[in-house]
Amino acid sequence: MKKIAVLPGDGIGPEIVAEAVKVLNALELEFDMEAAPVGGAAYESHGHPLPESTLKLAQEADAILFGAVGDWKYDKLERALRPEQAILGLRKHLGLFANFRPAICYEQLTHASSLKPELIAGLDILIIRELTGDIYFGQPRGRRTAPDGHFPGAEEAFDTMRYSRPEIERIAHIAFQAARKRSQRVTSVDKSNVLETFQLWKDVVTEVGQQYPDVALDHMYVDNAAMQLVRAPKKFDVVVTGNMFGDILSDEAAMLTGSIGMLPSASLNERGQGLYEPSHGSAPDIAGQGIANPLATILSAAMMLRFSLDQPQAADRIESAVQHVLAQGLRTADIHSDGTTKVGTREMGDAVVAAITTKT
Ligand code: NAI
Ligand code: MG
Repeated sequence: MKKIAVLPGDGIGPEIVAEAVKVLNALELEFDMEAAPVGGAAYESHGHPLPESTLKLAQEADAILFGAVGDWKYDKLERALRPEQAILGLRKHLGLFANFRPAICYEQLTHASSLKPELIAGLDILIIRELTGDIYFGQPRGRRTAPDGHFPGAEEAFDTMRYSRPEIERIAHIAFQAARKRSQRVTSVDKSNVLETFQLWKDVVTEVGQQYPDVALDHMYVDNAAMQLVRAPKKFDVVVTGNMFGDILSDEAAMLTGSIGMLPSASLNERGQGLYEPSHGSAPDIAGQGIANPLATILSAAMMLRFSLDQPQAADRIESAVQHVLAQGLRTADIHSDGTTKVGTREMGDAVVAAITTKT
């Protein structure tokens, strides 16, 4: 039986994960769900944001459903004990190198975007960000007295941008395979005109692309990609890029849809094991009030069924149930507008469950 590790975390994490678990149960599928504390919750119970027992559960599971971590009340802790270390630790220990960030604009929420409705209506793009390499992890890095440069003798800091061929190959394969399930198009985003790292990136993605003759590949510089995302976002389908460019572009793309509470994400490793979480954080400003939007987490559970649990029909059922509740006019506060019905976290989860159970 497939096993799901359920890690609610802190802040709004427990509230939104409870709704996703309710939705998973409503599908009446056979899997084993086991919960464990992570982030601030684990600091409270175990004195560490990622206890050994939680890590072990995550390693043994086929998939991890993660809420969010990072309540403000832990801000004063030393770095190693801060809740955010839990998510970084999970990525590292599980080798989660492929981050999927879909940006989907639901028909009923078109008005929530800052872009004109015609630019955004029907938007459905997928940004795939490499998550374990690039300038965020490259060595050497540090501070020193500048040995040369414009200001020799001045204090300076430096980081190393770095990608190896196998790291680029595996993320490229992921992107082409994802494109095969969509509209057969990949845009690889780089800065090969300036950076050697991204010249290698471009060369390797092009080579891997030859193994996927059915998928069209184009290349775009990151500065142009940032412009095109706000000018004509629907021109993209699958976008694949490195860690830093992906960090920035995926947040830009998320904002196009106007509602962080709607966007799921997945991070996968080479074994297809994945961690699924909403794109947003722990929202300490609204935690405990029962008003957080649970849909990003519910949609993350749908991604989990599709990518790690081999249940694409169940994923479709969740996604169409979400469409259904939006069409009914139900809205949490973050996506509420005139003429719609404001609901809380739990009511929204109940409505999704109702849509699933009445449709089957
Ligand atoms: P955030 O995403 O938590 O919140 C940004 C704004 O969006 C807030 O006004 C919040 O109320 C709202 N919001 C977020 N999710 C919502 C939802 N589901 N429904 C309704 N409104 C929602 O980002 P912020 O404020 O920058 O970070 C808060 C904490 O979360 C920080 O400690 C940060 O480190 C952590 N964080 C954790 C992440 C994770 O667990 N993977 C990812 C991003 C941030
Ligand atoms: Mg970011």
